[in-house]
Amino acid sequence: MKPKFGTFEKKLSGIKKRNLLRTLQDSKVERQYIFQNGEKLLNFSSNDYLGIKPREIKHTQFQSSSRLVSGNDISFSILEKKLSKHKSQEKTIIFPTGYMANIGTISSIANKENIIFSDELNHASIVEACKLSGAKIKIFKHNNMEDLEKKIRKTNGRKLIVTEGIFSMDGDWSQLDQISELSEKYEVTTILDDAHGDFVLGKDGKGTSNFFNVEKKIDLYISSLSKGLGSFGGYASGRENLIDLCINTSKTFIYTSALPASINQYSLQRLESDRESYRKKLWKKINLFHKRLDEIELSTTSTSQIIPIIIGKEKTALELSKFLRKNRMFAQAIRYPTVKKGEARIRISITGWLSEKEIEYSIQVLEKAKKKFNLK
Ligand SMILES: Cc1ncc(COP(=O)(O)O)c(C=O)c1O
Repeated sequence: MKPKFGTFEKKLSGIKKRNLLRTLQDSKVERQYIFQNGEKLLNFSSNDYLGIKPREIKHTQFQSSSRLVSGNDISFSILEKKLSKHKSQEKTIIFPTGYMANIGTISSIANKENIIFSDELNHASIVEACKLSGAKIKIFKHNNMEDLEKKIRKTNGRKLIVTEGIFSMDGDWSQLDQISELSEKYEVTTILDDAHGDFVLGKDGKGTSNFFNVEKKIDLYISSLSKGLGSFGGYASGRENLIDLCINTSKTFIYTSALPASINQYSLQRLESDRESYRKKLWKKINLFHKRLDEIELSTTSTSQIIPIIIGKEKTALELSKFLRKNRMFAQAIRYPTVKKGEARIRISITGWLSEKEIEYSIQVLEKAKKKFNLK
């Protein structure tokens, strides 16, 4: 081994040894199916939750520039105005991805003089954004309001709380009502990343903050257009001056190319579609899956469309995923560092694409898996 490659190879072989290696698989997704290696599998690993039927979009010339240079196609402001209304906020900016929205906004509004309280299960993009801001980071126990309050009380200076709405790997909801109360009591800025609750939860899919009736108490709302809506992109909504600050200082907004206008048009079509009927159908399926899971006595932390089956060992999670696959069910094993070490799991997501019959079929497969793998 050449010395200059030594450290890479050592790191990679360590990843392999710990059953944590990821590899890319060629695949094609069509409605509720995923095609891989000539197999047609039911896709239980999709974030296209509503399953809105795609319509043709007209491809336009790409902007080939950042938005502040010459890339600010009018589709941005049309979509941003509609998203502001969707969120009951003054202003919105679209980023190329939700990941970039977190990185850009949090690092713009927090600095080394501040303290950020971050839920221990927050997404990697939030974790990286907090680090990049230079603020002091205090991790509070997952959804534990006592721990959060204790930590807030112990600190002085400008404070911010950041949490997800529906947690991406556990499928439970943050206690946004209580978080908002604490924010008011201690004058803390509240940041919500609702990538998985947006379009799924609350009236008209307005998200987790609408569900908890605290929309006005969220200072910065961050989300993805690539999940519930099934389009592409990320956005942030808030008070006008806060969003203007991000336009002026968010590096992942300023120093990157604008999304193609055709993507915005696709998002607009979907935003204006009959989303509510898709959402109602989705919840019927989510509730059915949870009810059937209860009946076969498989436990989960979830209250949403994201349903983890916690396994523990990485190797067993991989074997279970393989077993499901043999039974035409595609559900990925999720391992460290996406979740904590020893908390590997199968992450199942229910989308509107799946029929009730297919959901029933998946329960039968899971019942077999429960016996084979001694699941609780
Ligand atoms: C909670 C959360 N925030 C942000 C993101 C990033 O969103 P995007 O896929 O649009 O980059 C994800 C994606 O997995 C997520 O789960």
